[in-house]
Amino acid sequence: MADSSTPTIIKGLEGVYFTETKICKVDGLKGRLWYRGYSIESLAKNSSFEEVSYLILYGRLPKKDELDGFKARLISSMALDNGIVELLKSLNGKMLPMDILRTAVSAMPAFSEKKVYQNDSEEHIAESIEIIGRIAGVVATIGAMMNNLGYSKPDSSRGIAYNILYMMTGKKPEEKAAKMLDVMMILHAEHSSNASTFSTIVAGSTMADLYSAITAGICALKGPLHGGADEKALDMMKDIGDPNNTEKYIEDALAGKKRIMGFGHRVYKTYDPRAKVIKAYLEDIQNGSTMEVQTLTAIALKAEKLMIDKLGESKGIWPNVDFFSGPVYTYIGIPKSLFTPLFAASRSPGWCAHMLEYWQDNRLIRPLDYYNGQLDIPYTPIDQRK
Ligand code: SDX
Repeated sequence: MADSSTPTIIKGLEGVYFTETKICKVDGLKGRLWYRGYSIESLAKNSSFEEVSYLILYGRLPKKDELDGFKARLISSMALDNGIVELLKSLNGKMLPMDILRTAVSAMPAFSEKKVYQNDSEEHIAESIEIIGRIAGVVATIGAMMNNLGYSKPDSSRGIAYNILYMMTGKKPEEKAAKMLDVMMILHAEHSSNASTFSTIVAGSTMADLYSAITAGICALKGPLHGGADEKALDMMKDIGDPNNTEKYIEDALAGKKRIMGFGHRVYKTYDPRAKVIKAYLEDIQNGSTMEVQTLTAIALKAEKLMIDKLGESKGIWPNVDFFSGPVYTYIGIPKSLFTPLFAASRSPGWCAHMLEYWQDNRLIRPLDYYNGQLDIPYTPIDQRK
């Protein structure tokens, strides 16, 4: 029982503002999202993952020559050093893809060319571009190994999404699939102080290096309450198996107090605007895709309606970015265990941008915890302990 001296404990830092930012605005009540002042809808419709990464990092849209130069640097970083490829091969099949990615990012500095920079900010931007490109290259190469293929160099004339599919399959991807993946990466690129971005900033606030901070972000993203929900949501759809089983499955799960993955959000108390864009793709791919994708899509749309009827208005639990991603990634040919690593590749610009912004006015993050145990307990020598 808390007495009058017990401070107010804010579990999960819910509703706590820890810094100011100009990178992203999330309006959880209205279901709106902006990166650097541009709405997610306008960016998904008009932009590319490379242009959005530039916007998130630099705070403005690039001119043509700036974008071309930025893209060239990203794709050259996507071409992995032989040492990283050998590391990926040694871990292939021994760890989950998300764990291989985390390990590879930790090892990246070992394969980074030692360069001299004019100042910290130039160094941090250069490292950010290297990290964004390399994470994408690592995810693509993990995918290639899952397809029993070796590493292949990216096509320097194309972007990151195209090259992820190209490097994963060894074949030129369909333009429609590459475009869909590019939009999915835009939708996942940034989302204010989510758990993985906050973890990145906590690590970097000690003045650890950017690779260490991003590794912390990858560790946090893995959990099913955060980035890992996309894989769990697809597992649920596959467990349901037939659209006619959806209602009973959802009702039994809710009766058993289970969480339906891909629904609910700490900030959105209405429809996640990103989920709306992804849902539109589902309706687009429903016809003409494989039976598997058609079944998954039918189950997803049924589960969406059921969950909104049951928990939407009443509890503010709506579809989030992770719910419809599974059927879309499956349509594009991405294996389930690569969903969250792909989320990491998409979110790397957001992680880097927030870290660079926080370092502009760094403050070690060190909250308090309230001790409610005993004090000054007498020490009992081991031979006298009962
Ligand atoms: C992402 O933060 C970000 O921005 C994250 C993200 C990003 O882009 O970085 O948007 C990406 O992580 C999206 C969220 C992915 N996670 C999931 O889909 C996992 C399932 N969702 C839940 O576990 C939950 O909704 C959270 C974790 C996302 C948010 O939970 P909160 O804010 O901590 O809410 P809560 O756990 O306190 O739940 C409040 C109530 C509870 O019921 P009561 O105990 O009050 O009766 O809502 C219920 C919960 O049981 N609830 C759910 C539910 N989510 C919440 N019930 C069933 N299914 C769910 N999905």
